[in-house]
Formats: sequence, C-alpha cells, structure tokens
Amino acid sequence: MKVAVVRETFPGERRVSLVPALIAPLTKAGWQVLVQAGAGEGANFSDADYESAGAEIVGDRRTAFEQADVVLQVRCLGSNPEAGREDLELVRPGLVLIGMCDPLGRPESVRELADQQATLFAMEMIPRITRAQSMDVLSSMATIAGYKAVVQAADHLPKLFPMMMTAAGTLVAAKVLVIGAGVAGLQAIASARRLGAVVQAYDVRPVVKEQIESLGAKFVELNLDTGDSEDKGGYAKQLSDEQVKMQQAQLADIIAECDVCISTAAIPGRPSPLLVTAEAVRRMRSGSVVVDLAAERGGNCELTEADQTVVDNGVTILGPTNLPSEVPQHASQMYAKNLVTFLLHMTSESKLDIDFNDEIIRDTLAAKDGQVQNQRLRDMLDLGPLTQPETTPPADHLASNDS
Ligand code: NAI
Repeated sequence: MKVAVVRETFPGERRVSLVPALIAPLTKAGWQVLVQAGAGEGANFSDADYESAGAEIVGDRRTAFEQADVVLQVRCLGSNPEAGREDLELVRPGLVLIGMCDPLGRPESVRELADQQATLFAMEMIPRITRAQSMDVLSSMATIAGYKAVVQAADHLPKLFPMMMTAAGTLVAAKVLVIGAGVAGLQAIASARRLGAVVQAYDVRPVVKEQIESLGAKFVELNLDTGDSEDKGGYAKQLSDEQVKMQQAQLADIIAECDVCISTAAIPGRPSPLLVTAEAVRRMRSGSVVVDLAAERGGNCELTEADQTVVDNGVTILGPTNLPSEVPQHASQMYAKNLVTFLLHMTSESKLDIDFNDEIIRDTLAAKDGQVQNQRLRDMLDLGPLTQPETTPPADHLASNDS
C-alpha cells in the first residue's frame, strides 16, 4: 500500500501533511510513503529529510497521485477552491483522499470529488469525542491560531503585555479580552497570561467558566437569559436576534476598557456571530488591537476584512485566516500526527481496513462510490437521502487494497 504526500498548492500555504518523524510508524504498519519533491519545503523539511526517514521522493504530482492508494493533503479541493481544481483530473475511482476540504463551507466541492469516485475523508468532521482527540485537526490548528493571535496582537500593540516596575517608572499590564473560549480561545488566554497580560474572557457557554479561571483569567458574565446554550455536540447554540443585541451592547462596555480583543467565537457551519460592533471598536483607545480569528466566515468584528489590516480610529483590526501556516513546522507536526493516527486507525495487517460502522469513520466520510455520504452535506446540496450502493458494507469487503 502506498500513501502519497503532495505539495500544497493553496496560495501562501506552508504546511505539509506529513513530517519526516512520522514516516516510521507508517512504514511499520506496512505503508510505503511517497513524497512529492519539495512538499515539505515551506515547513522546513527537505526532500533529504524525508528520504532519510524512509520515504521515496517522486518528481511530479501526477506520479504521486497515480501510484498512491491514499493521498494526504492539508487542503484538498474545497479548502483550496481554485488551485485545488487541478487535482480533480488526477483523482481516479477509489483513490482515498484525506485532508481538510471545508465540507460545510463548500459542500459542492465534496460533490465534485464524489463525481470523480474518490473516497474522501474530511478531517474537519472528526467527531469531538475522547477517542478521536488525537485525530482532531481543527483543535490542533486552533491551538496554533490561538497562540499566534496573541503574538500578533503583542506585535501590533504600542505597549508591552506585562506589568514592569522599572527605574524609569511602572508600566501597566495590557488588558486583553478573549471572546469565545473554545480551543483557540483557551490557548489565546493561556498565551496572553504567559506574556503577563491581565486577561478576561467571555463565552456564551457558562460551562467554560472553570476552564477560563483555571488559566488565571476572569470569566465575563453577561446577562442574556440564554438557558441551555450548548447543543448535544457540546457546541454553542445560535442566539436570538434580541440576545445578540444584548450581547453586543454589554460586550462593548468591556471592549472599551481593553487594549486587545481576540475574538474566536464560532458555531460550526454557520457564519461567525457578530459580537464586536464598529461602535464598540470606536470606543477603544487609539493604539488598541483587535485580532479576529473568525475572519474566514465573516468575522466576529464588524470592521474585519479577511487577511487585511484595517485601521479605524487608531484601532488596528487584523483578520488573519491562515495563522497555522505562519507556524508551519509545529502546525505540520500536529496536523501530521492527527492524519497518521487516523490512517493507522483504518489500517490492519498492512491493509486498508475501513470500518464504516465506526463513528470516527462514519462522521468523517464525505464521499464514496460516487455519492456524497454525509447526510448534513447532502441536505445542503439538496441531494435527499443516500441511496445505493450501501453506506455500510462489511469491512472485509473493503479491505481489498493490497497493492
Ligand atoms: P471552538 O468551537 O472550539 O470554539 C468556539 C467558541 O466560540 C465556543 O466555545 C463557543 O461556545 C463560542 N461561541 C459561539 N458563539 C458565541 C457567541 N455568540 N458568543 C460567545 N462565544 C460564542 O472553535 P475553535 O476551534 O476554538 O476555533 C475558533 C475560531 O477560530 C473558528 O472560527 C475557527 O474557524 C477559527 N480558526 C481560525 C484560524 C485562523 O488562522 N484564523 C485557524 C484555526 C481556527
């Protein structure tokens, strides 16, 4: 069995889907690893690094796709909407693609890959269950983004983060507000605290209060009358229009007192909730910084422009959409660990052995046998219920890839 790692083609993408250190567990499990020449360059891994770890370097992308049973990518078509199209003609029936493909944002790309008869696993759909934690790419990448958002904020703020008592006087610690205390938010809180800022954080789910406080930050409580704010997947529920207005108004008072606001609020598959109004930004002191991690889906801040630096009334608003790519070495290491764990989860006795009844596989499987498999994606595409061939054939039938 052969697994190929190809060069990322999304503009500016520096991550790679496999790092040399993770070739050994794959070869031990029976995989032969092919790496497209230059695939790791952006993340500081040379072809020689891959070769000495046991991979075979292949000169061109076409060969990598042709020879492989499985192709690993950071961004498949969908999360690489333009350049990713060139891969469509390289996909042959039954080829297994594993990567991020923005299934909820661009379900039509899943359909295009289904039309090519690819077996597509959308890593964004890994369930957030304990057993799948080591495969959860969104958490890995959000961890990196949360850290890097703080570093960017510190870089743009015309002040230091820590309090300093010096012979030249006392410098007051920066005040940071983190909105949304999921994976990115909690990492932002921890990183801002490490830099010495005074941190407070808000999330619509009150269950995160303890986690916020355990990181040394203050939990901001708003009066919104949300009732049960969490769905059964542990994600935030959408708020009513009235609650949104109350939230914006109450947050504005807090934001006005902060030097930095890092926003990370998200509900999967929906546009980012608008939490920081233009008016709230205009109440901040000149020199303050907003880092909006939700920029890709419209942003939590009304003034955010994706991948632009906006300065409004002296306040800098950053809307980076691909922070993990700015820390490519560690981001690739974490991403690759998630992918390798996933691939080994469906490897048995040197064969691809996919148990379609397994929750992790079932939730992640986006396309197979010419059909979009996930019902939520099918609904988004108006495809109706899944028809033949069966979704859950016996595993032994699928453990056939023994080339
Ligand atoms: P997550 O789902 O773990 O956390 C999101 C948090 O937002 C949850 O705790 C949720 O309760 C909270 N939330 C939802 N609606 C809210 C509201 N109205 N008010 C307050 N809090 C609310 O998500 P994760 O993994 O932490 O990612 C956060 C965001 O960062 C996402 O938008 C994700 O796409 C983005 N991200 C951005 C990157 C970049 O480079 N810009 C890289 C990685 C992630």
